[in-house]
Amino acid sequence: MKILVTGAAGFIGYHLCEALLKRDIEVVGIDSINDYYDQNLKFGRLSQLGIEKIGARVPLRRCTSTKHGSKFKFVRMNLEDRQELPKLFEQEEFRVVCNLAAQAGVRYSLENPSAYIDSNIVGFVNLLECCRHYKIEHLVYASSSSVYGLNDKIPFSTTDNVDHPISLYAASKKSNELMAHTYSHLFGLPTTGLRFFTVYGPWGRPDMAIFLFTKAILDNKPINVFNHGEMERDFTYVNDIVDGVERILMEPNDKRKQRPIYNIYNIGNNKAIKLTDFIESIEHNLGKTAVKNMLPMQPGDVTRTWANVDNLIQDYNYSPDTDISVGVKSFTDWYCQHYKV
Ligand SMILES: NC(=O)c1ccc[n+]([C@@H]2O[C@H](COP(=O)([O-])OP(=O)(O)OC[C@H]3O[C@@H](n4cnc5c(N)ncnc54)[C@H](O)[C@@H]3O)[C@@H](O)[C@H]2O)c1
Repeated sequence: MKILVTGAAGFIGYHLCEALLKRDIEVVGIDSINDYYDQNLKFGRLSQLGIEKIGARVPLRRCTSTKHGSKFKFVRMNLEDRQELPKLFEQEEFRVVCNLAAQAGVRYSLENPSAYIDSNIVGFVNLLECCRHYKIEHLVYASSSSVYGLNDKIPFSTTDNVDHPISLYAASKKSNELMAHTYSHLFGLPTTGLRFFTVYGPWGRPDMAIFLFTKAILDNKPINVFNHGEMERDFTYVNDIVDGVERILMEPNDKRKQRPIYNIYNIGNNKAIKLTDFIESIEHNLGKTAVKNMLPMQPGDVTRTWANVDNLIQDYNYSPDTDISVGVKSFTDWYCQHYKV
């Protein structure tokens, strides 16, 4: 089993690579290491995987891990690269692909829409083409809870209508699901889309709430609390996400073939947590109270997310079990150690 993980220097991609390597699976990771947020965090994650940087960059376009040897290779590459991507598929003969590379973030899609079209649309269709031509057994790809947009029926179910996205990010993720459907239908490519719900944990993204709040509280700066705190999120600990993704990736091909060729699952914690409770948990772990800057709702944002994960439980025995008290502590411990606070 050789797996391609795209977005391997990213938050979820890094954790997935670690988990797959622990199982002794052969992994090739690709990432453009874009500068959407601090690239040092991406280099830091790669270093955990045994891919060392020299000076400011990963030294070679293609490197082998000093920690995992030939079991883990990293290639710095853009999904949009229509020349190099097929060459990689030709050389490596992957069986399964997990696409986590994307321009993430709802708010940034209002500022830089082109980044979403380049990575999430052009990049994704290039990947689909490679999966089609190199007869990939299964493409698993990240979608997002944001596809539920203006949906007000909770918890969000994969049978709900998702024709009302309210950000270009959400529209790009919904487009991925439509494009995957086309490739499953036309070319018999088995695809599984995973709608992730607010993932958090160590090595997390600096643009996400837990990172922003922790940093601001420690720096004695106010935190921005949107919709005056009247928000709920299905916060999901990264290990629970990785566990779900692994269950799907690891499924033997003969068993997977018994499922529909095109599949979509929610992957969340199955609970809506009040933003104010989440903040309290961060404060508790840092032993400091936040100064809150109460603000109105932001454009493109939704007030509540909550995942119905019944299908994933039924099909894959998925069981997210990390309570926010445990997950938040693990993040704040990592943050304080990493940034030497
Ligand atoms: N973190 C969450 O809460 C969350 C929620 C819903 C969906 N998702 C989705 O999960 C996936 C992983 O998210 P993450 O939080 O790890 O984000 P991340 O930004 O940390 O990781 C994505 C990685 O992809 C790389 N990348 C971006 N465009 C690329 C391209 N065109 N070619 C090659 N590499 C590229 C980036 O450099 C980055 O390292 C993304 O698809 C994201 O949209 C994440």
